[in-house]
Order: sequence, then structure tokens, then C-alpha cells
Amino acid sequence: MTLLVTGGAGYVGSHTVHALLAQGHEVVILDNLSTGHKWALQDCELITIDLRDETNLVRNLKGRSFDGVLHFAAKSLVGESKNQPTMYYQNNVGGTTNLVRAMQAADIQRLVFSSTAAIFGNPVSDLIDEAHPKAPINVYGQTKLVVEQMLEAVTASSDFSATCLRYFNAAGANNAANLGEWHEPETHLIPNALRAAAGTENPLTLFGDDYPTPDGTCVRDYIHVDDLASAHVAAIDTMMESGVFGTYNLGNGNGYSVKEVIAACEKAVGSEIPFTIGPRREGDPATLVASSQKARDELGWAPAHDSIEEIAQSAWNWECYRRDTLA
Ligand code: UFG
Repeated sequence: MTLLVTGGAGYVGSHTVHALLAQGHEVVILDNLSTGHKWALQDCELITIDLRDETNLVRNLKGRSFDGVLHFAAKSLVGESKNQPTMYYQNNVGGTTNLVRAMQAADIQRLVFSSTAAIFGNPVSDLIDEAHPKAPINVYGQTKLVVEQMLEAVTASSDFSATCLRYFNAAGANNAANLGEWHEPETHLIPNALRAAAGTENPLTLFGDDYPTPDGTCVRDYIHVDDLASAHVAAIDTMMESGVFGTYNLGNGNGYSVKEVIAACEKAVGSEIPFTIGPRREGDPATLVASSQKARDELGWAPAHDSIEEIAQSAWNWECYRRDTLA
């Protein structure tokens, strides 16, 4: 297949490009390199445009024959989304609207969309399946939910197909490909813990130990980024045969507390990671764990790296490489 990958220079996008190339697909990356990285670009053509520029987008897609688009490009920081809501709506909702319009103008009919567990808000059940109520508690989650709703409406009114993949906590790295996570500012637990392990310049704060969980810290479902990548490959393969509108939750179905994740990071690093207990972070539900049964049944997908130790080890190997080679 020939596939367009927006946000292919970003964290999940670059790992998916790697997986697609390994499967023999031809890939073109579309990225404005605002948060993506040049070092993450692989052996494929790059189109450097911004999704907010509809005219340029239409011009660039017209006449090209893509079998589908995998759409990662987005703003994705929960805290930032609270302070800059219009920027989030403009990029995530406006940018995706432009992309769909440009795809329709170029007769490209298949889209795999990066969605998120943030569309669910506070869970009302232990395992979150696709039918769980959608009640986002932050602007980031709102923008992703609005896009899902738009895509459902577009598929109902045309030949367009869309698959929404809702990631739980993306983590880990592909060490063989020298790909991994690098956000500035970094807000995620595992990279923050590993940066704290590397020195006192980056102290780790644990946000709240008074949650209604076994050890009082928040429980999350950490999924290896290569497993997210393989889910995208499975999704686009499945769409070649069937598909109008589909949604899939992607996690391992195992919850780990913040303290358990720090312990896994300590094991990877081989030393204690100092941290202080701070207040709760606004907008953090106590527990978020996925049921991914639907993805297993319908996409034939299963995570291959579901141990938190393996995830932490790959993230630590990446952190050492990043610091020594790229930083
Ligand atoms: N945490 C800390 N200290 C830190 C960073 C995080 O204690 O320095 C805690 C958080 O409070 C939370 C847990 O570690 O309890 C995980 O936090 P992350 O920031 O790593 O991940 P989130 O669960 O907040 O975010 C993830 C995705 C978001 C998505 C969200 C849905 O990264 O894109 O799940 O709730 F929106």
C-alpha cells in the first residue's frame, strides 16, 4: 500500500512509520515539525505543511494516489489544552476537518485516527470498553471526541471509512530503530522518572498518594508504543477489506500504580529513583484500564510487549541513547 502518515515525525507516528516500512508499505510523511523531530524521519518522502493550511493541503494531496491516511498530527498535552483551548480546537478539530476535506477532494477514502482514553473522562467501570460513556474532563479529550463524532458523520454520508484507535498510556521505545519519546516540556511519568534517575536537575514529583487505589497512587494501563504501531498496521489492513466507522480501545488490560511504575523504572536503571509526594494533578482519574477485546477480536491484534518491566527497560535504553547521542 501507499500510505500518508501525518505526524510521522512524532512519537507514536514514527514507530508506526517504522512498522509500516517493515511490512513493505510505501510511506509519505506529512509533518510541520513543530513537535516532531528530524531524527525520527525515516527513509520516506516528507511533505512539510501545516494541517491548518487547507489550500496547501488540498494542493499537495491532489493527484496523488494514497490507499489511506494514518493521522497522528495533533496537539496532545492535557495541561496545555486547558490554557490554550482555541489552539487545541484549531489544530485538532480544524486540522482534521481540513485533512478529511483534502482527502475527499483527492478521492482518498480511508483514515486511521489517533484517539485517546481521555475521551472517557472519569471511568464508571473497572475495565473501559468502547461503549463506556464519553465524558472528557479536559479540552484535549474534548477535541478528540469531537473529531470521532465528525468522522462518524462523514462515514455515514459518503464512501469514507474511518477507524479511531483510542490509546491508553503510550510508553516504551524501539531500541533497535533508535526511536523513542522526546517531548519538551515532558509531562509523562516514565520519561520523567527516568530523567530524575539521571540527575537531580529533574526531580520527580508523584502527584497524589491519597487516591482510592491499593497503594493510593493512580493506576494506568501502559501500552508499548510498538504495540500501538502494530495496531495501526492491523487497522489499515482490515480497512482494505471492510470498514465504515470503527472505534477500538488499545491497552494491555493491566493497571499499574505510579509507585509500581517507578519501581519498574528503578529496576531498569539499577538504582533508586528519588521522588517527593506532591498534591493531586488536576484532571487525573484514579484508575484508567482498557478492555481491548474488540481490537483483539476484530483487528486480530494482540500486544507483544505487555510487561511493565520490558516497557521501562526499553524507555531507559532510549533515554540513555537520547541523552548521549541527540540531546
Ligand atoms: N505522574 C506523576 N508525576 C509525573 C508525571 C505523571 O505522578 O511527573 C502521574 C500522573 O499523575 C498519573 C500517572 O503518573 O497518575 C500517569 O501520568 P502521565 O502524564 O504519564 O499520563 P496520563 O495518564 O496523564 O496521560 C495519558 C496520555 C494522555 C491522555 C491521558 C488520558 O498521555 O495523552 O492518558 O487520561 F490524555
